[in-house]
Amino acid sequence: MGVPKKDIQRLDKFLSAQLGITRSEAKELIKRRVVTVNGVVGKLFDMKIDPEKDVVCSEGKEVTYRKHIYIMMNKPQGVVCSTRDGESQTVLELLPDSIRHDGLFPAGRLDKDTEGFVFITDDGVLAHNILSPKHHVDKTYFARLEKPADEDDVKAFESGMEIDGGDVCLPAKLTILDDAHEVLITIREGMYHQIKRMAQARNNKVLYLKRLSIGNIKLDEGLAPGEWREMLHKEIENI
Ligand code: URA
Repeated sequence: MGVPKKDIQRLDKFLSAQLGITRSEAKELIKRRVVTVNGVVGKLFDMKIDPEKDVVCSEGKEVTYRKHIYIMMNKPQGVVCSTRDGESQTVLELLPDSIRHDGLFPAGRLDKDTEGFVFITDDGVLAHNILSPKHHVDKTYFARLEKPADEDDVKAFESGMEIDGGDVCLPAKLTILDDAHEVLITIREGMYHQIKRMAQARNNKVLYLKRLSIGNIKLDEGLAPGEWREMLHKEIENI
């Protein structure tokens, strides 16, 4: 194994990422001589620092280093879960410039017409763990169906159904709500259009779909479509 690469950063980039400010605001702080690195005033924007070792203070307060950023977004319909798209708005474009940076991406995709919880991060290892089919992270969706669901559907979902294209799903949980057109569905993988294809395999159709949770983390009810918030590290440990 090679020696891990050190995460050396430019001072202005570090301040911008850690304080959630723009690069020009970070430069302004440095210009005002209110930024210190290990007690010495940092004068150069491109001064290189080692965030794991160097102590950076801004206006007398230590800037604590968070290596990664974790975002919970309530994706609205009409927005795509990719880093770039020629035509449609992407989930990343809903974030302010101060947060957006190279390496940030949505971990797992929702269809353009699906709403709900999208997890956006620059932590490739965690994203891989969530996405890897080996780890079976539960994802729960609310769906409105064209026809009412029944107990045969519950059993079919439980049994691990075959969907079009010959894919066989892992057992999934279907809970019928008061109005049987509305259901909760928990799946443990994320095949392309999986829920829509599962409904289709039961001669039904998804009219509306929203992801409510990933692992143990529930989408905040307070987040309107298009809104987002940073997640706490302790929430991430639960995912
Ligand atoms: N299943 C679907 O069919 N679409 C989604 O966006 C997510 C799960």
